[in-house]
Amino acid sequence: MHIGKDIELAAQKLKDGGIVAIPTETVYGLAANALNPDAVLKIYEAKNRPTFDPLIVHVANLEYIQKYVTEIPDLVFQLAEKLCPGPLTFLLPKKEIIPDLVTSGLPKVGIRIPNHTLTLELLQKIDFPLAAPSANPFGYISPTNANHVADQLLQKVDYILDGGESKIGLESTIISIEKDEIIIHRLGGISIEELSFYAKTKLEIKQHSNPLSPGQLDSHYAPKKKLILVDFEDELEINTDTFYILFQKNIPKLSPKNQFILSHVGDVNEAAQKLFKALRIADKSNSQKIIAQKVPEIGIGRAINDRLKRAAH
Ligand code: TXA
Ligand code: MG
Repeated sequence: MHIGKDIELAAQKLKDGGIVAIPTETVYGLAANALNPDAVLKIYEAKNRPTFDPLIVHVANLEYIQKYVTEIPDLVFQLAEKLCPGPLTFLLPKKEIIPDLVTSGLPKVGIRIPNHTLTLELLQKIDFPLAAPSANPFGYISPTNANHVADQLLQKVDYILDGGESKIGLESTIISIEKDEIIIHRLGGISIEELSFYAKTKLEIKQHSNPLSPGQLDSHYAPKKKLILVDFEDELEINTDTFYILFQKNIPKLSPKNQFILSHVGDVNEAAQKLFKALRIADKSNSQKIIAQKVPEIGIGRAINDRLKRAAH
């Protein structure tokens, strides 16, 4: 059995140096022992991911973060107290024990505490942290359930730990602290509003297309079909050869098979939770292309629009 809820088995595969897909509240991760470079290399190979794209390390609690980094700014403690476990990744100076392969040679490691019971239990059963990028082939849409992982990686992983649908549905927000300011490296599950609520300090968004962090490459999170992004207010031209990803309102004239409504009540959090599923359905459909509507730029809506832009590039 390749897919299941067997935490013992997942732990054993990881101890043996294998790779296991793990559920998190954001998206599923493809995990290995972060302290074992041979195991970490298997992640890059399975995903076909260039080794210059660093991996996020997952730990059970704040004490473990202290174990793997040399320095934690007060602001990180403040934020972690309110927002962790949760979809927030901190870039912090790594200790020697974290292999260079995990950080692609960078001095900082991305580290977070995932908010998922199964994965937190799994982390209690092992005595090493888990390096885990999203469990999809490099550049493709991130998986938000076990079947998404199985669709593309079943033969390449040692086990898929099935923890149901990811509740947030979008990757973690990645931040670093520089001179008491928060630098946002990737928009994600924790919104700018939440960050400014808990840290009364300056926020800066780094919108780089940086080969050192391909999650920020202009083209990423992308379906195979051509995706066109339109503004929320734009009049839609209706074509039967197109699949529509719509924020709130359906297109009555069009078959339900050719459209996906992210949130009938217009809730950006619900839209985030369904976004990657919608993209996968659109990609599998018979349509020639995909038209996706931007969502309102509030809360997690910003992160949704960020992913859609990259998917459209
Ligand atoms: O929610 C998430 O963050 C999910 C789940 C599985 O935890 N993980 C995830 O990993 O999205 P991944 O590898 O698909 O995206 C991580 C991105 C990388 O593309 C890279 O841009 C950035 O995080 N990153 C990781 N470590 C970094 C580092 N040391 N310095 C700069 N950027 C880093
Ligand atoms: Mg990814």
